[in-house]
Amino acid sequence: MNRKTTFCLCAAAAVLSAAAYVTYENNALMLTQYEYRSEGVSEALDGFRAVHLSDVHGKRFGKKNSRLIKLISEQSPDIIVISGDLIDSRHPDPEAAYELVGGLAAIAPVYYVTGNHEESLPREVYISAMENISALGAHILDGDSEKFYYNGAEVNIAGFKDSRYFTVSEAKEFVADGAFNILINHRPQFAAGYAEAGFDLAFSGHAHGGQARLPFIGGVIAPDQFLFPKYYEGLHRFANGATVISRGLGNSLIPIRINNRPEVVAVTLRKG
Ligand SMILES: [Fe+2]
Repeated sequence: MNRKTTFCLCAAAAVLSAAAYVTYENNALMLTQYEYRSEGVSEALDGFRAVHLSDVHGKRFGKKNSRLIKLISEQSPDIIVISGDLIDSRHPDPEAAYELVGGLAAIAPVYYVTGNHEESLPREVYISAMENISALGAHILDGDSEKFYYNGAEVNIAGFKDSRYFTVSEAKEFVADGAFNILINHRPQFAAGYAEAGFDLAFSGHAHGGQARLPFIGGVIAPDQFLFPKYYEGLHRFANGATVISRGLGNSLIPIRINNRPEVVAVTLRKG
């Protein structure tokens, strides 16, 4: 083999390896598990389990999202929360959302808030999508809250549609005294404000994990937070509560993820 042939073979191998890596990074599901231990968690709520997904952007993992639904089912969640951008405004495919929500609603109660992408859909597409998602059994939280009981403990769950204009004072009105208060809100940059408003646990997305994650540095870029965002993944604790940020499952403007596999989050409450 001459030098030119060797170079071409090495270049082809490098391109194929890079393509295989990017394909894996964007399609291999990853489960992140957190235990949230707090004095705010009563004995009755110890063991309560929420699965959180965000920013699906119409992506399918297997036929009719079978891989994603199976992974979530295996977590035996008590509730499933979806923190927005289920439908992508650039390439709207509401059917993908219906397939997913239909599968999830058969596992556990689904609570859903819209993100900036649903809010950017043509009005008639948005209205039809919300009607269908609601008919499939999802609880769509749009500036309101609902209550349910777990082992006799009251849980209050609130949500706002795309939360660009979130304010602590407005959110406080949706906190219920004596209940464990959960908030779903698309944008993570208000993480501290969710706890300040009185929510024990909040779920956000939007940042796509910083799109690429650098070793020792973390996420590179996120909407609203720009370079090296503070809130792009993880469980962030504050004095009065915590916010869980999902890295999400799909892509939109930036079509690939690097060192940032599609993420399903499962949170188990523990009595502090
Ligand atoms: Fe998104």
